[in-house]
Amino acid sequence: MRTDTPQAIYLKDYTPPAFQIETVDLDISIEAGFACVTASLACQRNPAAADPSASLVLNGEDLKLESVRLDGRPLGQGEYVLCADQLMIHAELPDSFTLTTVSTINPDGNTQLSGLYRSKDGYFTQCEAEGFRRITWFLDRPDVMAKYTVTIHADKAQFPVLLGNGNPVGAGDEEGGRHWAKWEDPFRKPSYLFAMVAAKLDMLEDWFVTKSGRKVRCAVYVEPGKLDQCGHAMAALKKSMKWDEDVFGLEMDLDHYMIVAVGDFNMGAMENKGLNIFNTKYVLARPDTATDIDFQNIDRVVAHEYFHNWTGNRVTCRDWFQLSLKEGLTVFRDQQFGMDMHSAGVTRIQEVRTLRTAQFPEDAGPMAHPIRPASYAEINNFYSATVYEKGAEVIRMIHTLIGKDAFRKGMDLYFARHDGQAVTCEDFVAAMQDASGLDLTQFKRWYNQAGTPKLLVRGAYDAATKRFTLDVEQQYPATAYEKRLEAEGRAVARGAYHLPLVIGLLGADGRELPLRLAGESAAADTQRVLSITEDRQQFVFEDLAEAPVPSLLRGFSAPVVLDYPYSQADLTHLMARDSDAFCRWEAGQRLATDILMAGVAAFQAGSGDTLAWVPAGYVDAMRALLGSAFAPGGDPALVAEALMLPSEVVLIEATEGTVDPDAIHAARLALRRHLANELKGPFAAAYHELKIDAPYSPEATQAGARALRNACLSYIAEVDDAESLALLQNQFDSANNMTDSMAALSALAQFASPARDAALERFLAKWKDEALVVDKWLQVQSTSRAPDTGARVRALLDHPAFDIRNPNKVYALIRAFCAANPKHFHAADGSGYALAADAILQLDALNPQVAARIARSFDRWRKFDTQRQSLARMALVRVQGHDKLSRDVAEIVGKALES
Ligand code: TRP
Ligand code: ZN
Repeated sequence: MRTDTPQAIYLKDYTPPAFQIETVDLDISIEAGFACVTASLACQRNPAAADPSASLVLNGEDLKLESVRLDGRPLGQGEYVLCADQLMIHAELPDSFTLTTVSTINPDGNTQLSGLYRSKDGYFTQCEAEGFRRITWFLDRPDVMAKYTVTIHADKAQFPVLLGNGNPVGAGDEEGGRHWAKWEDPFRKPSYLFAMVAAKLDMLEDWFVTKSGRKVRCAVYVEPGKLDQCGHAMAALKKSMKWDEDVFGLEMDLDHYMIVAVGDFNMGAMENKGLNIFNTKYVLARPDTATDIDFQNIDRVVAHEYFHNWTGNRVTCRDWFQLSLKEGLTVFRDQQFGMDMHSAGVTRIQEVRTLRTAQFPEDAGPMAHPIRPASYAEINNFYSATVYEKGAEVIRMIHTLIGKDAFRKGMDLYFARHDGQAVTCEDFVAAMQDASGLDLTQFKRWYNQAGTPKLLVRGAYDAATKRFTLDVEQQYPATAYEKRLEAEGRAVARGAYHLPLVIGLLGADGRELPLRLAGESAAADTQRVLSITEDRQQFVFEDLAEAPVPSLLRGFSAPVVLDYPYSQADLTHLMARDSDAFCRWEAGQRLATDILMAGVAAFQAGSGDTLAWVPAGYVDAMRALLGSAFAPGGDPALVAEALMLPSEVVLIEATEGTVDPDAIHAARLALRRHLANELKGPFAAAYHELKIDAPYSPEATQAGARALRNACLSYIAEVDDAESLALLQNQFDSANNMTDSMAALSALAQFASPARDAALERFLAKWKDEALVVDKWLQVQSTSRAPDTGARVRALLDHPAFDIRNPNKVYALIRAFCAANPKHFHAADGSGYALAADAILQLDALNPQVAARIARSFDRWRKFDTQRQSLARMALVRVQGHDKLSRDVAEIVGKALES
């Protein structure tokens, strides 16, 4: 069969590089319309190389080679060969030599935002994963680690700030109004961590004294005029530095730590050594421009990039298959930081929600891959929810299985063994195994097997023996990934996972019952970690005077789908009484999902509107939930999470068989309206009670109260009468912070009405010069359920506030529409699919990484009815048929169509 999926690279083919590069001396001169790059590489033959006489083959992309010199001697024709993206040196090479290349590049025409590129205020770089080869010829792979110096030259008036990794070692003026600066990074690093900036920026400066007493200069650089939006990021940086010392004993190792914000950026941020480059979205915040969630995200992304300094930079990846070595571990670390800084329960719930909306669908679709894939066509496509979020879950499971103290010992051992090295996931697991003494051989299946395992748990109570028996079975059917491996004749044996199942047992009065397993002399505790290693296992708990309700998978202890036949009464009990915040929330989500699935069936049968599918008692459970926020010890933030019904995306994933997005939308909306009408009084009372008079602060308590208040507002809006409209309008008019303003605007935006149009117009008029707020304006429209959304999104593509070259704008308008608005994206007439296909094709010519992310919208096309499938296929085929399609998009579309 002919396949249109591009050529794959395999993990099994890894070989050490033929040469090592000791030092890199760069001279980068920014000129009008181009940049000139001179690179001197001190190379040595690698004694570990497979072929001791291999020639030197350097990567390069979109470079114009001007000259090559070997130890100063210009190489002539015949001594080197230039071919597609490679420079091969054929000249005889001594064991150690210096190769100097001079190339010109075109940063102004670099719309991919990989390598050196132009943004509004100057020039910036992005080298991960393979962007350095777009700056100069290099062995552009992470196991080549060198010491770098860079000298940057540019026009002084236009680009007064010149930055590089490490320490500034010289600067001066040049003829023609130009200037230069030289930076030296004392640490060896792979090329993907190189960065430089030449721009006009303002700077906020502060100091951090490390535990050993060294003073680190912290600097945040932003677009001129935006210094009043940097304070939160700076505070987050200093908190992160302190936390990593306190929790992991890890100290900042450089004298300068710089964060530069840029408006054009493909991802969230980048951990370049000492010179992080950030999407403005994760730096800039002021109470009137950023929401509570934005403030929280800034904390997390700043921490994430800072934590990479040890997990990623000091110890890096041998090859890109090991990406989760640094990303899974660093996400785990930023999650732990988030749990310490904000509410632990709410933070965990939000993570589980992300996992379910992004990672579970990925693991069930054509792009399924383990956290360490065996092959890829385009590495940029593997900066995925699986590598990041599931990767973090895998680290979390090690943490749960071996315990906090052994985990810390394992981290210490990992750094003791591998500081300064480029290593593999095995090396990390080995450190954890050696530090803890726990055999992790079976655990490593998490690195090689794709798919979300299903855990079937059944409980039985025997009053005569006072025993409660839990039967646990795991299922892990092959995914698209395994099917592909098999088709290629490379099938890997699959087997049971090793995972921690954290449980408790609740009595009828809500008490936590002591857990004594058969054969044990005394009850250990009211919560324990069951180590699951077999396809089927049984656990027998003794001395239980009553039938317990099991509280399973506490804290979401493993990334699995849990199947337990809870009754609605069990769920209501857990929802009200479980001591574990995640399980309390989960019981509510599970209850709502069961009800909504019945609702979906009712809508399909034409009887949805009767609401006969809503069980008696549900409204009371939700009333009690709302009331619990105001009881002593109540947690408004948690209640806000629990009031939110599972999203349409989560319901789509929970559907067995063919998905009916219209019925899902109808059922969810009907249940929201029902709750809104039945609990009108309590929602209004809570809304007024939760009014905050104190000055705005994004900290957890105030943000939690706001979250609950705005959750109430969104229900109140569903009543859709004059009174509720007045309330929305009033909040929109009087809000003194972006959280409240957006909550009102997004509620208004759900209805095609003059009030919506007026509010949107006023909002844009007020914020048109604040790019990140304009993104919110786009997204509130692209995610609206209002019937005219598809047409409005199309129209917005031509609006002056939209710019297809800016990833944030594309994500706000197009990706949010495709990924977070299933009702409209999956419109029965195929208009959503057509819109996505048009956008993918237009984007592919500009920015393949971003185009490929939009192409992922089609991952789940096989779950829908035949009519939708044929429309989605048409859209995919149209994209695939385009000539000059990027490898990025070709891989995604090829895999989607093969599925
Ligand atoms: N390493 C970055 C992070 O996780 C990710 C990243 C930033 C990235 N920019 C990128 C990955 C561009 C690929 C391409 O923090
Ligand atoms: Zn990262």
